[in-house]
Parts: sequence; C-alpha cells; structure tokens
Amino acid sequence: MKTIEWKDGKVFLIDQRKLPLKYKIINCSTYQEVAEAIKKMKIRGAPAIGVAAAFGIALAAYSSKASTYGEFIQDMEKAKNYLALTRPTAVNLFWALERMMNLINIKKDVDLFKLKDIILQEAENIAREDIEINKAMGEQGSSLIKDGDSILTHCNAGALATVDHGTALGVIRTAFKEGKKIHVYVDETRPVLQGARLTAWELTQKKIPFTLITDNMAGFLMYQKKVNLIIVGADRIARNGDVVNKIGTYSLSVLARENKVPFYVAAPISTIDMSLKSGEEIPIEERDPKEVTHISGKQIAPAGVKVFNPAFDITPNGYVEAIITEKGIIRKPFEKNIKLVVNTA
Ligand code: MRU
Repeated sequence: MKTIEWKDGKVFLIDQRKLPLKYKIINCSTYQEVAEAIKKMKIRGAPAIGVAAAFGIALAAYSSKASTYGEFIQDMEKAKNYLALTRPTAVNLFWALERMMNLINIKKDVDLFKLKDIILQEAENIAREDIEINKAMGEQGSSLIKDGDSILTHCNAGALATVDHGTALGVIRTAFKEGKKIHVYVDETRPVLQGARLTAWELTQKKIPFTLITDNMAGFLMYQKKVNLIIVGADRIARNGDVVNKIGTYSLSVLARENKVPFYVAAPISTIDMSLKSGEEIPIEERDPKEVTHISGKQIAPAGVKVFNPAFDITPNGYVEAIITEKGIIRKPFEKNIKLVVNTA
C-alpha cells in the first residue's frame, strides 16, 4: 500500500508510530482526524503531510452542508486554517493547502456538487504527482552515486515520508535498482528514531544492504573513510539554498565538510520556499520534552529535567554540495540557480 491514499470517501494511511513492530492501517473520515494524524505524527515527512492536508480539504468539502459558494468557501477556509496549525516547519503542508484553496477560488462558478469532485481530483493529482516527482528525483540523483559507494542518510526520507518511493531514500532506491552495489548507513535519528524505525524498515523491505548506527557514530565513520556521500531530505529550503531538515542534519553537514564527504539534499521543488531569504526565517518546531526524556514510553532521564527539543535545524547553504530536484541537480551559486530551476518548473 502507499503511505496515504483515498478509498471509499476516507483517507487511509500507515500508522507510522507503530512501525517497525506493527504494520497498521488507519483511516480518517474527517479533516479533524487528518489534522490529528499529522500532529501526532501518525503520518510525517514533508511531502506526505502535504498530501494528507490536501485529502483533509477533500474530506472537508464532502462534509460541507453549504448551499451557496459563499458558505462553502467559509467552510473550506476553516478547514485550511485548522490543518495549517498542525506542524509549522515543512512547507509542503502550506504549499498543498494553498494549491487546494487556489483551485477552489478559481472554480467559483462551478456547481457545488461538481466542485467537491474536482477538489478530490486535485488532491489525487498531488498524490500521484508526488510519486512521479520522486521517481524523477531518483533518476537525477542516482547519477551522483557510483558502484561500490557507501551512503549515509538521516531521518526517514523514504516512501513513508512521501506517497511512495521517497526523496533522499528514493535516490538510493533508484541507484540500487539500476544495479549499483551500494551500502547505506542509517543513523537512528534521536529523539523520534525515524532512521532506526522507518528507514531501517524500508531498506529491509527493499533488501538494500545497510548498517544502523547511533547518531554520534557518524563522525567516526567519516573519519574512517567509510562514507562516500551523504544524502538527506528537506522540510523547507530557503531561496538562498539554506536547508531545514531533521535535527542532526547540520551536525552531519559540518562533519561532512571536515572529512571532505559531499553532502547532498534531495527535495521536490515544492519544498523550496521562494518567499524566504534565508534559513533563519524558517519556523523551527519544538516538540514535547517527553520525546527526549522517554524512549518507547519508558522514562530514561530524571523526572522534571529541563529539555530543549527542536525537531529541525538549519544547514547553511555553504555546507550543501548540491540540491537534487525532479527538474535537475542545483549547484552553487544557489540563489541564482534555484531561481532558474523554480522559474522553469
Ligand atoms: O518530523 P518528521 O518525521 O516529519 O521529519 C521528517 C524529516 O525531517 C524528513 O527528513 C524530511 O521531511 C524530508 S522527507 C522527504
């Protein structure tokens, strides 16, 4: 099954909090349930939460009792604002909501009954395009991987963070499918452990050889010359090429520079936020201290300790070798080259 899909008037998704121990499909029949699934990280990863939000708007449309367009748009605005409050960092969420609302605004004159189907079609388009984009990104990025390479990745930027295939892990999957003999190092990605739980699960499913490490082992691995390149995903990229991704990404980029390991970011064009000058302007989500003080519900730190738990960090563009997108590989100078690629997309 895909990470998320629409079936019989409901949104079905893999509950990622249960993996890898349990593979459980849940469904949402209201936009509030979709918002809850995003907030609680039953679904997570930048492109996946964008698609979830789009399906949330479709659910809101079908449940609307409005009899005029004016009433309908009010219901849609309410749902959009509700969904927008779920997570602040990944721009794909806002990008998808905006795309849905733009369509609803353009189709003012369409009969409401028909409009609801058009809204669902648009959400389905976003989901279908996500897979196509990831596959295109995979082909672009695979050119950077040589036979015999060892690749380090962080967090989960695979099929589970998207509708299918993945971004950073999608590049790795494509290289493997092309027959390249590769090895992947997966860091566990404290505190939520997306690497250990999700990326390790996906690589096991796809039979791609990998080794799991804790986050603090990455430097030693690079020092020992065991990593040829690093590929990570992104939650938001500013127009100057600064990258916001899962906490720990910045540390990896600095270690990569020190050890002369190329550091690549794979992300769809929809992850680039052209309205922001630099990474400094990207809101960084801070999450429940319990994610740090507890593991699998078990307390590991003294009760009541002070905790700092940012879910993401900023990697300055200088540490990024290139950004892999579905439209091509963007190299420095980022400001100029990002603009060129975005304008032709
Ligand atoms: O907090 P999460 O699990 O939603 O964070 C996900 C990441 O940081 C991913 O690496 C990022 O979304 C890129 S995914 C295609």
